Amino acid sequence: MTRLTIRDIQKLKDKGDRIAMLTAYDATSAFLAEAAGAPMLLVGDSLGMVVQGHQSTIPVTLEHIIYHARIVMRVTTSALVVGDMPFMTYKTSIEQAMTGAARLMQETGVEAVKVEGGETIAPTIERLVQAGIPVMAHIGLTPQSVNQFGGFRVQGKDRDTAAQLICDAKAIEDAGAFAVVLELIPAPLAKEITGMLKIPTIGIGAGPDCSGQVQVFHDLLGLYPSFGPRHARQYANAGEIIQQALASYVQDVKGGAFPTAAQSSTMNEDIIAELHQRGEKPCE
Ligand code: KIV
Repeated sequence: MTRLTIRDIQKLKDKGDRIAMLTAYDATSAFLAEAAGAPMLLVGDSLGMVVQGHQSTIPVTLEHIIYHARIVMRVTTSALVVGDMPFMTYKTSIEQAMTGAARLMQETGVEAVKVEGGETIAPTIERLVQAGIPVMAHIGLTPQSVNQFGGFRVQGKDRDTAAQLICDAKAIEDAGAFAVVLELIPAPLAKEITGMLKIPTIGIGAGPDCSGQVQVFHDLLGLYPSFGPRHARQYANAGEIIQQALASYVQDVKGGAFPTAAQSSTMNEDIIAELHQRGEKPCE
């Protein structure tokens, strides 16, 4: 099976098919997300929060993303996989971005990278694209700037910040990005931006009128107990189900109910009887 490409993603948008993107970080999440039919997977730096247990994405390094992207690529066959460029791996200089993106693609096989930022990052996007690297952009609440924003807050609510986001979206498209994530911006603004652009907009907390949506695997499944963002719908409380199952296992081990003969193997017991007779020196 061949993987979807950025052209296939554009075709989905052009046909009016809404694009359901999911994050994936390991073999289980990648296998399940692809099997569920997601055409695009993101090895997001959100792994810093849901896998590594940090309060933000800032501690994530390029090595971490490479490690997880290799796993996701190993177990998927059809989805387009995008690798996130972590905090400060692409903003120091264009050369830094080129080197990091090249490593991410060469060492993992991902077909595209994602960078956060608008107008200011457009020259970097342009160079990456010229070098043959497909780029997904990300504007609005860009989590790598959470300290600058003073928290995970909705962006673009007033005239100036909304106008800036529109300019950012245009600059990104002009620079050659193949798609743009719109995170935590008001639904009417996301609708306006989506209407202006030819490339797909992928919303997260940006209302129903984007070309597609992206959600964090753990948020949809209720896997991460201490974090449930408002923009996510919990489709299953898998965390509770898993916790109950694990508690049953602990009780069964304590009470001697696990394992039983069904989970064990047998052998000729005469051998054990003979070894037992040899006492403490069975090897002599
Ligand atoms: O890292 C991530 O998972 C993301 C999505 C939330 C868009 O950037």
